[in-house]
Amino acid sequence: MKPINELTKEEALAELKYIAEEMAKSDIAYYQNDAPYLTDAEYDSLKLRNEQIEKRFPELILANSPSKKIGAPLQSGFKKITHRFPMLSLADVFSIEEVDDFIMSVKRFLNTAETPTFMAEPKIDGLSFSARYENGKFISGATRGDGIVGEDITENLKTIKQLPLTLENAPAILEVRGEVYMSKQDFFNLNQRYETEGKKTFANPRNAAAGSLRQLDSKITAERNLSLWAYTWGEVSERCWNTQQEFFDCLEKWGFPVNPHNKLCSNQQEIEDNFNHLMEIRADLPYDIDGIVYKVNDITLQERLGFLTRTPRWAVAHKFPAEQAITKINNIRIQVGRTGALTPVADLEPITVGGVVVSHATLHNEDEIKRKDIRIGDWVIIQRAGDVIPQVVAVLPDKRPETSQEFIFPTTCPVCGAHAIREEDEAVRRCTGGLSCPAQAVERIIHFVSKDAFDIEGLGEKIVEDFYKEGILHTPDDIFTLEERNDDGDLFSHQSGTALHLESREGWGKKSVDNLFNAINRKRTMPLDRFIYALGIRQVGSATSRLLAQNYGNFIHFMNDMRVKETAKLVSIDGIGGAMAKDIVEFFQEEHNLQIINKLLSHVKVEDFIDDTRHDSPISGKTVVFTGTLEKMTRSEAKAKALNLGAKVAGSVSAHTDYVIMGADAGSKAKKAQELGIKILSEAEFLELIQK
Ligand code: IVH
Repeated sequence: MKPINELTKEEALAELKYIAEEMAKSDIAYYQNDAPYLTDAEYDSLKLRNEQIEKRFPELILANSPSKKIGAPLQSGFKKITHRFPMLSLADVFSIEEVDDFIMSVKRFLNTAETPTFMAEPKIDGLSFSARYENGKFISGATRGDGIVGEDITENLKTIKQLPLTLENAPAILEVRGEVYMSKQDFFNLNQRYETEGKKTFANPRNAAAGSLRQLDSKITAERNLSLWAYTWGEVSERCWNTQQEFFDCLEKWGFPVNPHNKLCSNQQEIEDNFNHLMEIRADLPYDIDGIVYKVNDITLQERLGFLTRTPRWAVAHKFPAEQAITKINNIRIQVGRTGALTPVADLEPITVGGVVVSHATLHNEDEIKRKDIRIGDWVIIQRAGDVIPQVVAVLPDKRPETSQEFIFPTTCPVCGAHAIREEDEAVRRCTGGLSCPAQAVERIIHFVSKDAFDIEGLGEKIVEDFYKEGILHTPDDIFTLEERNDDGDLFSHQSGTALHLESREGWGKKSVDNLFNAINRKRTMPLDRFIYALGIRQVGSATSRLLAQNYGNFIHFMNDMRVKETAKLVSIDGIGGAMAKDIVEFFQEEHNLQIINKLLSHVKVEDFIDDTRHDSPISGKTVVFTGTLEKMTRSEAKAKALNLGAKVAGSVSAHTDYVIMGADAGSKAKKAQELGIKILSEAEFLELIQK
């Protein structure tokens, strides 16, 4: 990577754009899907690089720069809670020297030579929450969300036993904030259970905690073992503590769990010793921590120090380096995925990294192996940065044994023997075997039954693999004949004319077989977008499937256009590029695929996409403008509501505007509306109007 001071303006801008896109993608994966796209270390280094480039070229700071955002975009479905006091984030530092700089800056700001006392707290790797108490009763709870508006998780928080529901001798209004997390053991147990049940496992305890807490159905949260630590406050009617330490004492009195490793440090030496101590015991702690938070202990000083835009001046997060270890590559092998992509995987000499035994690492692709010059037999540094699948950071050339072997990337598929080809400007090599390649066939069925596709409970990866090997399932449509074949083998079974009798399989019984058939039968009607996604067309994820469904409305229309390569509509869709269009059309040229689709259509009713925009609402056809801060909904929610009701939403007031909906602190737009004599509605009046 080019040093910052050598970047031209154009290069800097291109990089800022790239970083903003990558981090936005990662945010969605992390916060909305609770499945990481980048490792923490990759995310942090992008964030740091962004900061450095912006520092050198402040004029290039983008409107959507990651430096302007805090936290998670909101998931739809949850009620929203606007935080009375924003839930801020912390500035990160990565070395003890930078911690010293932080201490210096605090002293400079306070104009004092004396080092103030700091509270050093383990930085819990979980999901932050805010719990509101009124007159000693737990009233509501929220996630951090974007820091301003969070998701209402009141019912979910109530299921965590450690959260006290009543407080004695507490201020009349009190918001306690902290971190919800899942212990390493509970994470392990949950994943093990999911694996046997054939469900998708979580990448790390933090994702598991987030996925468990952000459940619309709090019964699911209740089934997961979640824990919490409390560490700060939001709104409070009467603060009866003067230091962070006194606040912890209060928390304990009220019955909140307070981390026993929180420690007061009165000088740099104590801070450093504490850091080394926590690094040492980190792997043995029953939960994940990813650093240490230092907070000025004295609250009067905190108040004097105040805040920058999104972080306090009185606190900083000292992040631990990613967990690394040195081990040997015993072998490199190739995995073949659903779309035929050949992915190299390193089999490692098992080693413990941050308390987890690691025996494989992904090598991504052919170029990555070349770039890092990774050979079989090499000693390598591997890194687990929060996630379960580790990566190879670098090879140790001095330790390379003479017997080390270069890995020759195969040009045929190791599973089916078909040619594996790499198209120009693609990093991956793909097997051309299509569905006759067992690996692709299995992966395609796994994709077909996955959560965002048919979501068939009870058909996990292991079972699909076994069924494929035994000839019970060849293609996704076979799923829908399982029940008939189970009793009446003569007609349908792929095995020599016998019924399947799934109930007599080891570990199965009548009940599990019934459950499976019920789960399958519930999926004999499928919304169009999910059906398209389930087909597993290369590059077509859930979002693209939704776009296709919206634009074509009906599966047969879509398929017919694709078969005759009628792409005018396809390429006019905003969000579908040329390469994607090519993959979609190609998919429908394959005879194999058409056969499977035809069979599927005989078992499954694909629902037309229903455009639920209303045309008869009080605001259908009207142009509305929102202005000011809304209380009951976010601006995007309000817009979505209005659009669904058939209104047009405009950004500025003009003679064509029908309604201006005015929130708090509305500015010039409200004034202009008044001048033009346009009807102005309060948020409440608007909500009342659209009830009709
Ligand atoms: S204090 C204004 N204390 O780290 C200060 N945060 O990077 C607010 N975190 O959003 C945060 N352990 O999710 C604080 N002992 C601790 C923490 C902690 C973990 C998380 C929290 C916060 C993020 C900031």
